Amino acid sequence: MTVEIRAARPGEVDGLRKIASATKAYLLFAGTPEFIVAVLDGRLVGMSGLVRHGESARIKNLFVVPEVRGKGVGSMLLQAQLAHLKRVGVKRVEAAATDMSLRIFLAAGFTKTRSYSTSTGVRLEMTP
Ligand SMILES: CC(C)(COP(=O)(O)OP(=O)(O)OC[C@H]1O[C@@H](n2cnc3c(N)ncnc32)[C@H](O)[C@@H]1OP(=O)(O)O)[C@@H](O)C(=O)NCCC(=O)NCCS
Repeated sequence: MTVEIRAARPGEVDGLRKIASATKAYLLFAGTPEFIVAVLDGRLVGMSGLVRHGESARIKNLFVVPEVRGKGVGSMLLQAQLAHLKRVGVKRVEAAATDMSLRIFLAAGFTKTRSYSTSTGVRLEMTP
């Protein structure tokens, strides 16, 4: 399985919406997110958004379509975001993990913060 991880292109918003709806989620356009996508056999199968505020960033909308889950695509997207954030000098990354994503966030080095729960999941942070 060869998966390409790359920046989302202008004109792919419908593709992002399809991934979100396949995961029964909504796209959250709070701030101005930068999206990356996972492409398998020419098809968008995963995505992740990033909102940056100076030296901090928040990872949002990490979604993989159900039929491709469990093959490492979610972790690849997360690693790509973290590598990018390290390159651009971000010092603190936050995320709100769901039950399904908690394992990959913890495996990537995130830790739970004191304010554990939010309406969307467990609050996490890390230093890339
Ligand atoms: C969270 C999500 C992005 C993970 O994507 P993924 O491609 O399955 O991720 P990976 O394959 O890299 O890792 C999956 C991990 O979750 C575990 N897992 C939990 N439920 C699973 C399931 N139904 N299928 C496969 N793996 C599952 C796997 O064991 C694996 O952990 P491991 O590497 O320690 O064995 C995906 O499940 C998803 O889109 N879920 C719905 C939306 C969501 O909750 N997004 C998170 C928002 S922060």
